Amino acid sequence: MPKITFIDVDGTSYEATVDAGLSLMEAAINVGVPGVLAICGGSCACSTCHAYIDDAWATIVGGPNDIEDATLDLANDRRSGSRLTCQVTVTAAMDGLVVHVAKND
Ligand code: FES
Repeated sequence: MPKITFIDVDGTSYEATVDAGLSLMEAAINVGVPGVLAICGGSCACSTCHAYIDDAWATIVGGPNDIEDATLDLANDRRSGSRLTCQVTVTAAMDGLVVHVAKND
């Protein structure tokens, strides 16, 4: 199973061993990562699961579709690596991925 590291806004790391097929949002909630509020429950409507993907992982993780892109416009401090974690499905290729949680409040 892929291992994912989440880093919260204070710099604290949280390790998650994740079943492929879960979303990054579900993985973060499962290990209690602060700041992944996920108010809409993963339906791509709130942007409170916003996080940043390092450039080195951009190809593997991919970019947002048009619906996610529109919702990301609601997020605080959108950057080139911004993704909504509810819209990223974990795959085996993501083993070692590091995700930086955005300031979502
Ligand atoms: S949980 Fe609301 S957009 Fe991801």
